[in-house]
Amino acid sequence: MNAFATLPSSVDDPLPVLCVGAGSMGRAWLAAVQADPLVRLAGVVDIDQDAARTAVADLGMDVPIGADAVAVAAATGARAIVNVTVPAAHLPVTMAALRAGLPVLGEKPAASTLAEAVRLATVAEQTGQLFMVSQSRRWNPRVFALRAMVEGLGAVGSVTTEFFRAPRFGGFRDQMRQPLLVDMAIHSFDTARFLLAAEPVSVTCQSWNPSWSWYRGDANASAVFEMSDGARYTYVGSWCAAGAETSWNGTWRISGEKGSAHWDGDHDPELASDHPPLDRPASPYSGIAGALQVFVEALRTGVAPMGEIHENLMSLAMVEAAVESADTGVAVTLADVFTRARELPPTSTAASG
Ligand SMILES: NC(=O)c1ccc[n+]([C@@H]2O[C@H](COP(=O)([O-])OP(=O)(O)OC[C@H]3O[C@@H](n4cnc5c(N)ncnc54)[C@H](O)[C@@H]3O)[C@@H](O)[C@H]2O)c1
Repeated sequence: MNAFATLPSSVDDPLPVLCVGAGSMGRAWLAAVQADPLVRLAGVVDIDQDAARTAVADLGMDVPIGADAVAVAAATGARAIVNVTVPAAHLPVTMAALRAGLPVLGEKPAASTLAEAVRLATVAEQTGQLFMVSQSRRWNPRVFALRAMVEGLGAVGSVTTEFFRAPRFGGFRDQMRQPLLVDMAIHSFDTARFLLAAEPVSVTCQSWNPSWSWYRGDANASAVFEMSDGARYTYVGSWCAAGAETSWNGTWRISGEKGSAHWDGDHDPELASDHPPLDRPASPYSGIAGALQVFVEALRTGVAPMGEIHENLMSLAMVEAAVESADTGVAVTLADVFTRARELPPTSTAASG
């Protein structure tokens, strides 16, 4: 974690922010910014000016729009940006903002590839600006409750996530080489790190595309991670699985020496153990609104938040290691993935869709 410049914010003097990317998730962020009294929407940026204009009109607000975040920030006095562009634009948009002295709250993934994300971590260090990745599911209060249960289970043997849904997005996901692993599984991978307070060591993964899939790339995957505490984290998922769909958070089971914990992803987690959860504080935040609050608080206090780019890199590395294992058919160690990401040119790693 690196030290970063602080910025004040208060209800009387809210932080002016730009939303960059006015697509479907950008609209959700615009609503979150509009609802947060500690921030003020200073403008909306999108290379598709119609998208920006329509999004602003739908908000019922009158703020400047533009195609270049740094230029709009200079014109409007915005002090920070929320980057909700397509993954391929995360690197150029975030890098330009950091270099212009603007802290960034970015949608996941940090960048298209781990090499690009490592580069952004370096730019954050060099510029002294905060770059936080919004892994919004981390702030789910039920994930906090599940983690307290897991801590009460003693040593953990296995963690599994089952994720089965059938969304028809259109757009960039339909064209990605690994839509499920690259665009979706990062949420579960990141949550597994949080639940176990352990880091992945290696992974074996297979991915495939069912005959009926409407995705160009592999909509199905199965991955087993060896974690640093000896547990195995197993992820099984599909993005073209109609019927009996799981929640968007997937279904979780954690099996430990003192019992098990189970979560359907939507309701309160359940504990099957004689040992109570550890007494831990509940999550004070939730979802992307929570990520925004955390970002603003971090800027005010200078305390590095969860999701700060250095802390987030491992979640993207899990994605990239899983993709590499699926491509090669052999186990991949996370250390090797990081070594290659630091050596490779930033646009040539395997995980880009
Ligand atoms: N946290 C979640 O649950 C969640 C859910 C959905 C999407 N996402 C993430 O949010 C991001 C956006 O996804 P989406 O579904 O809104 O995509 P989208 O395609 O609907 O919208 C992306 C927008 O970015 C704009 N854009 C592209 N390049 C740009 C650039 N250089 N500068 C400015 N604007 C640019 C596009 O014109 C488009 O309007 C992705 O990173 C995605 O993974 C996260």
